[in-house]
Amino acid sequence: MTDVLLLGGTAEAVALAGALARRRPDLAVVTSLAGLSSAPSAVPGAVRRGGFGGADGLAAWLADEGVAALVDATHPFAARMATQAVEAAGRAGVPRVKLVRPMWPRRKGDRWIPVADAGEAAAALARLAPGAALITLGRRGLDAFARLSGMRLVVRAIEPPAGPLPLAGAELVLARGPFAEADETALMRERGIGALVTKASGGEATEGKIAAARALGLPVVMIRRPAAPAGPKAATVGEAMDWLDDRL
Ligand SMILES: NC(=O)c1ccc[n+]([C@@H]2O[C@H](COP(=O)([O-])OP(=O)(O)OC[C@H]3O[C@@H](n4cnc5c(N)ncnc54)[C@H](OP(=O)(O)O)[C@@H]3O)[C@@H](O)[C@H]2O)c1
Repeated sequence: MTDVLLLGGTAEAVALAGALARRRPDLAVVTSLAGLSSAPSAVPGAVRRGGFGGADGLAAWLADEGVAALVDATHPFAARMATQAVEAAGRAGVPRVKLVRPMWPRRKGDRWIPVADAGEAAAALARLAPGAALITLGRRGLDAFARLSGMRLVVRAIEPPAGPLPLAGAELVLARGPFAEADETALMRERGIGALVTKASGGEATEGKIAAARALGLPVVMIRRPAAPAGPKAATVGEAMDWLDDRL
């Protein structure tokens, strides 16, 4: 039986699993990972991997395990899982909270260009025509940049793409956050970066690139977040702990 199901895949989910293990050892907590990463960060406590089979599968899992509370701590761009979590929790009658990290604060000197998706990001890059662009979207969505010409593309990801990089001639940088501003500045300088492409992920672990771009006066092409699902939200691990303490 499982008291708390944590939908993970983020640093916040790892931190919450750790906080629960320390402060609520009475609870049986399971963190669920989609299973896309071959070397995911270590997660304290029990872990399961792989999808549930849609909202129906998740609702059945919640009922079978007698789950008392569901914390959706997936990435702000994991929109499908977030929607399915709402549906499944509703069907199974399990209280749910979305742990969603705050967006980076916008500061003086920021040159953000908001776009809807990777296709719009590529179009924005074509207009900016920087000498080189740093693309920090992970392994997916890179095809959208394949037709860009006249600029160097530097792609950063945690793991290499499964097949060959869909961008001929792109430079691949493999690294796992958190990333300090000084290191991000050095990377941008060394590679002659003229523009940054990122998702509006928010969170401290990746804020260094935003600060570095600001300091260097670089434009940031930023893919907007999908809308978070309706219902209760926690902005921090502490708020999610409070929500759980109120229920369990
Ligand atoms: N999207 C990003 O930019 C991003 C960045 C960093 C980390 N992540 C993490 O990577 C995972 C996948 O992201 P995504 O954007 O592909 O998600 P998604 O599009 O919202 O979900 C796709 C499918 O993956 C499965 N899934 C997603 N998260 C899961 C979890 N925590 N446990 C079990 N199954 C899960 C579900 O399969 P079933 O329908 O079969 O249940 C879901 O339908 C998430 O856990 C997310 O936190 C995503």
